[in-house]
Amino acid sequence: MSEEKKRNIYFRNWMSVIGGILSVILFAVILFLFVLDFLDKGLNPYLGIFTYVVVPVFLVISLLMIPIGAWRERARFKKLGHVQQFPQIDFNNPTHQKIAFAAWGVVTLFLLFSMVGAYRAYEFSESVTFCGRTCHGVMGPEYIAYKNSPHAHVACVECHIGPGIDWYIRSKPSGARQAYLTLTNRFNRPIPTPIKTLRPARETCEHCHWPEQFYGDKEVNHKYFLPDETNTEWKARLLVHVGGAKPRYGQGEGIHWHMKVNNQVYYIATDEKKENIPWVRQINPDGKEEIFVEEKSGYSASNPPKGEIKLMDCMDCHNRPSHHFKAPSESVNEAMGFGQIDSSLPYIKREAVKALVGNYKSNSEAKAEIRKRLETFYREKYPAIWESKGKELQSSIDRVINIYNVNFFPEMKTSWKVHPNNIGHFISTGCFRCHDDKHKTAEGKVIRKDCAMCHAIIEQGKPELLETAVAGVEFKHPEDIGEEWKETKCSDCHTGELA
Ligand code: HEC
Ligand code: HEC
Ligand code: HEC
Ligand code: HEC
Ligand code: HEC
Ligand code: HEC
Repeated sequence: MSEEKKRNIYFRNWMSVIGGILSVILFAVILFLFVLDFLDKGLNPYLGIFTYVVVPVFLVISLLMIPIGAWRERARFKKLGHVQQFPQIDFNNPTHQKIAFAAWGVVTLFLLFSMVGAYRAYEFSESVTFCGRTCHGVMGPEYIAYKNSPHAHVACVECHIGPGIDWYIRSKPSGARQAYLTLTNRFNRPIPTPIKTLRPARETCEHCHWPEQFYGDKEVNHKYFLPDETNTEWKARLLVHVGGAKPRYGQGEGIHWHMKVNNQVYYIATDEKKENIPWVRQINPDGKEEIFVEEKSGYSASNPPKGEIKLMDCMDCHNRPSHHFKAPSESVNEAMGFGQIDSSLPYIKREAVKALVGNYKSNSEAKAEIRKRLETFYREKYPAIWESKGKELQSSIDRVINIYNVNFFPEMKTSWKVHPNNIGHFISTGCFRCHDDKHKTAEGKVIRKDCAMCHAIIEQGKPELLETAVAGVEFKHPEDIGEEWKETKCSDCHTGELA
């Protein structure tokens, strides 16, 4: 028997043979999937996982089976008394030359494919498809809210990981842990916030937005509908004084100027969600320090609550830039404002909100129940409307169900209630966590609740009786509640369920 044949013998064992056959098949499968993925443009969330993670793992295992089988075979031969010999390679021998070229070709090809594969695996692990859709049960609520947000074209990793290799490496263990919890069905419902490992906002958000770039006011238009029979309309148009740190025009001013660069605001929250902030320290540009403490909280400047002192940043106001779960009254107002829910249907505001806040176990149950409730209401209370406006009613009901599907996730126990938005003060406490006239320094200076400080109301009232003034008008509450709106926080009454 020639030397070569003798060495080939080592590969003639079941393990190496199976490994070889499997490798060829799996390689062909990968090529096929690769072409599919190329044509598919990421439409199927599972294709990527198979092409770049699952199948390559099996390919590597089957490739490893070939030398392992040969090695075991060699050990067996050795036991039987065969002499151990290293292969003699002779490049003058034409057969050896051919084998060397072939081996070199195969290895190069394999390395090339591995590189493309590894790059695609990296790309895929960073993709919106992987983050948002592959684990759809878990990330469904965030993914759907994201798709409806101004950031729908910003990849998840831009905010959750950000640029640079260090955070990429830091993110992988927690990503792997999350994948494990998902596979074993042991994740939290809802996913708890604030996320403790989120990268500081200055390093992610400021990649695209930075305070020097903001200036002036932002106009915001709101339409409201009261829960009466005619769904009385009420408008409010605000100029929100967004301001900036170093605006191109004029002096720094407004919301961002104060919060970000010239002044620093530190605070201590007494709960995980940062809803209660009894202690605030402000450091002015000249270095002067002022400490505001909430009345009746029992704390003082020298006796702060336990807990970390945090420097306020983007996320303390913009905590839902991409995953805003809207409250029922807010989303019904919006849909009615755009005419997608017909405001000529009597009591539709009140009834739609009532239907949305029902206690449902799943989206399919909600779909059936919402339809049933609204149909029953109009059939029984307004038979004439039921007859004459059937089409409008049905399309309005469809819209209400759609509101439910993009804002309520009973399986993940997720809704506006567990993830309040801190950007205003209407439905969640937001700015009024500090700006309530009740956080005081020892000298009696307060964190102001002055309505004109953050925005000017330039239009307000019923559409036919609008008060308009460019300099701003005094707020008028749509329903007569006396001076109550000055004393009580809006969100104490407006929980989002009020029709
Ligand atoms: C514009 C930035 C941004 C983008 C883009 C973004 N997120 Fe988020 N995400 C956040 C912020 C901010 C939070 C809230 C952190 C907190 O409250 O601690 C958050 C929270 C979450 C949470 C925790 C649960 C919750 O609702 O607060 C999950 C899960 C999540 N994001 C998944 C995703 C996925 C999946 C994508 C892509 C489909 C994505 N995010 C895209 C900024 C972003
Ligand atoms: C990769 C770039 C990118 C990153 C990172 C990013 N954003 Fe944005 N952001 C955008 C784009 C694009 C828009 C849409 C602009 C538009 O509609 O004119 C936007 C819009 C916004 C708006 C205006 C929303 C509105 O209703 O008009 C806010 C507020 C905002 N981003 C806050 C944030 C915060 C907070 C973060 C960090 C958690 C962040 N962004 C991270 C690109 C980014
Ligand atoms: C004190 C709270 C607060 C902080 C801190 C804050 N913002 Fe804002 N930001 C606001 C408010 C309020 C608005 C107006 C939002 C609205 O009415 O929709 C706004 C608006 C914006 C807009 C939209 C601007 C426009 O003209 O449309 C962007 C972008 C933005 N913020 C990004 C950031 C970034 C990035 C940071 C961190 C560097 C940050 N903000 C810090 C409260 C804050
Ligand atoms: C952690 C506490 C805290 C939160 C939350 C907070 N602020 Fe402030 N803010 C302060 C302090 C402290 C001051 C300085 C005292 C004052 O001017 O009343 C201030 C001042 C301001 C000023 C005055 C800036 C100037 O030109 O003098 C504006 C505008 C402002 N905040 C807007 C907001 C808005 C809008 C929100 C909600 C999106 C908000 N703040 C949330 C602590 C906070
Ligand atoms: C610390 C800053 C601040 C103060 C003080 C403040 N607001 Fe606001 N207000 C905001 C912000 C930010 C928003 C969100 C703007 C938007 O709709 O995007 C808002 C929104 C509103 C809205 C629209 C609500 C909605 O979301 O539909 C009304 C109405 C309003 N404010 C009235 C008042 C009145 C009345 C006062 C005085 C009692 C007041 N605000 C004090 C910052 C402030
Ligand atoms: C004492 C409770 C109470 C307080 C405090 C209060 N409201 Fe109201 N608000 C009501 C009631 C009751 C209605 C009647 C309609 C309803 O049930 O929605 C209403 C209706 C409204 C509406 C129109 C209906 C809608 O779509 O929600 C707006 C806008 C509104 N309030 C703004 C505010 C703002 C802004 C503040 C804080 C400055 C505030 N309210 C404080 C009780 C309150």
